[in-house]
Order: sequence, then structure tokens, then C-alpha cells
Amino acid sequence: MSSSKSNGGVLTAEGLQKSHQPITGTILVADDQVSNRELLEELLAAQGFTVIAVPDGAAVLEELNHVAADLVLLDVMMPHLNGFEVCERIKANPETYLIPVVLVTALSDRQDRIEGIRAGADDFLSRPVDRTELLARVRSLLKLKQRTDELERAESVLFTLARSIEGKDPYTHGHCERLAEYSARLGEHLGLAEDQITALRRAGVVHDVGKIDIPDAILLKPGSLSPDEWKLVQEHPEVGERICAPLKSFRFVLPIIRHHHEKFNGSGYPDGLQGDEIPIAARVLQVVDVYDALTTKRPYKPAFSITDALQTMKLEVAKGWWDPRVFDEFEKLVRDGAADFLSRSTAAGR
Ligand SMILES: [Fe+2]
Repeated sequence: MSSSKSNGGVLTAEGLQKSHQPITGTILVADDQVSNRELLEELLAAQGFTVIAVPDGAAVLEELNHVAADLVLLDVMMPHLNGFEVCERIKANPETYLIPVVLVTALSDRQDRIEGIRAGADDFLSRPVDRTELLARVRSLLKLKQRTDELERAESVLFTLARSIEGKDPYTHGHCERLAEYSARLGEHLGLAEDQITALRRAGVVHDVGKIDIPDAILLKPGSLSPDEWKLVQEHPEVGERICAPLKSFRFVLPIIRHHHEKFNGSGYPDGLQGDEIPIAARVLQVVDVYDALTTKRPYKPAFSITDALQTMKLEVAKGWWDPRVFDEFEKLVRDGAADFLSRSTAAGR
């Protein structure tokens, strides 16, 4: 995530709600015309922004590998990679897609703007560049970027917390990442909306964050749990939901966290929801979660082969635990081998 490249800062409750910091930032300017480049550089540097000016699109992408830019100003007409292509690549890269991109186009070129919108540009500036307009747009986009960074820091705190809980158990190593990746892929295969798929990626990592409340002696206990211990374990979906609730960007993630231990026949927890009452994204996550648990070696069991894992899950579907349609589609994905669901399990032995 681009959080690793975000400007440093302290996460505070006020910081999350409102930022009163002056608008600063690093602006990457790309133009093949030296005079244009220098003009922009001068204007922006005079306002206290850090400016990095480069002569072409390839140099922009190269700089973004090293520099935590807060805004990119791209001339549309550049040799090799033009502004649209560079913008498209910035927006396609999870490390950089949150950086606002402004395309500098000729005043009258409507087609350029349409193409720019398709490429994911956040804003446009007309040439010749008007100083006041330039600074107004830059400030507004940098303000937005500051807020995004603050939000990202909050999200990254949650992800770090979730990974540290996962890290307590050496047997679940990599589980969160696999779950995020595979459930997003299953969600795509089922035709879920984009916001649900994004939520699945996040939920894959944070769904068990509520386990923070469970003492290690219980969390890592090899034997069976007492009724009281089991009750505590069963609280983790609700605790996780509470931890993540303040983040608005997690609104689609919360139902997945809360309901990832429901069962299709209503015998799960915490709410005993049945069938379609269980949010579809939660049904997707749980099928992948169970498969991953079965194909992972644990102290009390070996890693199941793909065939054995699917067979076990089929029996569980028959018992009424998992959504049969979601399981069928998942099984197809695994059997087709189109997804690399297979790779880790193959290593574990069939
Ligand atoms: Fe869980």
C-alpha cells in the first residue's frame, strides 16, 4: 500500500477528523519543454512546495519508485510515454493510485479531457497555465491527499494489529494475505460489486482482529476449550467489528467481520443468521477461510490435500454449514486451477 510511502505523522483522534496543518507536499512535474517545466517549478517552489521536475513520462514512473509524491502534474504531450499512459499506470499501481494526477492540456482540447478522465486523472489544467488556478487546484488536491494519508495511517494501524495477532500463531503464517487475495478473486468470479471486493480484501486481513481480546493461553491452546473459553473466542467477531467501526471506509467490511462465523443453517455465531441473511461477502470469506484452514498444517492435524479439503467441505455443505452455490463456484475455481489456489496446497501434498 502507499501507506509505506506516505509522509510521516502521528495518528490522533483529532488528526483523523480534521487537519489544520498548512498545506505542503512534494509535487512531481513532468514536461518535455524546459521552459514549461521551469515555469511550473518556479511557481510551485515559491509557494513552499517541494518540486521534482522531470522531462518525460518514464522519468515520472522511475521517480515514483523512490519518492513519496503527493501530487503529479503531467503534460499530456510527451515523448515515449504520454501523459495519459503515465496517468493510467499511476492509477493501476496499488502503491501509487491514491496520488492525485493533474493533466495539463490545451485549453480547447475536449477529446484530451475525455481521454484523461478515462485514464483516471483527478483534475485538468489548461495551457497557458493560470497561476491562481494552478495554485488553487494544487492546494485543494493536496488537502485531499493529506486526508487520504491520515485515513491510510489509521487503516495501516489496523492491518498491523491484525497481522501481529496472526503472527502469534506460526501455523497460520500468511493466512490473512491468502484470504484477502483468494476471497477477492472468488468475489470477482461471483460478479460481486467492486466495493464488496475491496471490502473482502480488507476483511481478509482484519476479520480476526477481535482476537486481540483473547488471552494467548486460550488462543494458542492445543487441546479443547472449556465452555467459558469457547464463549470468549466466540466474541471475536463482535469485538473486531467494534474495533473497526470508527473507520468510515470500512463500512462494507464490518458486516463481513461480524458474520464470518455464521453458518448457512443458522447454527453459527454471533447472530445465528441463516442463508441469504448472511451477507454474501461473509459467505465468500468463510468458504475461503475454511479451505485455507484445512489445507494448512496445524499442531493437531496435517495439511489436507486439495481433494480431501474439498471433500470435507462438501460434507459440511451437506450439514448446512456453507452456502452451496458459493462453495460450488469456489470448487470450480480450485479444480480449474485458473487461480493459484492450488500452488500452496500442492506443496503441502495432495
Ligand atoms: Fe474468526
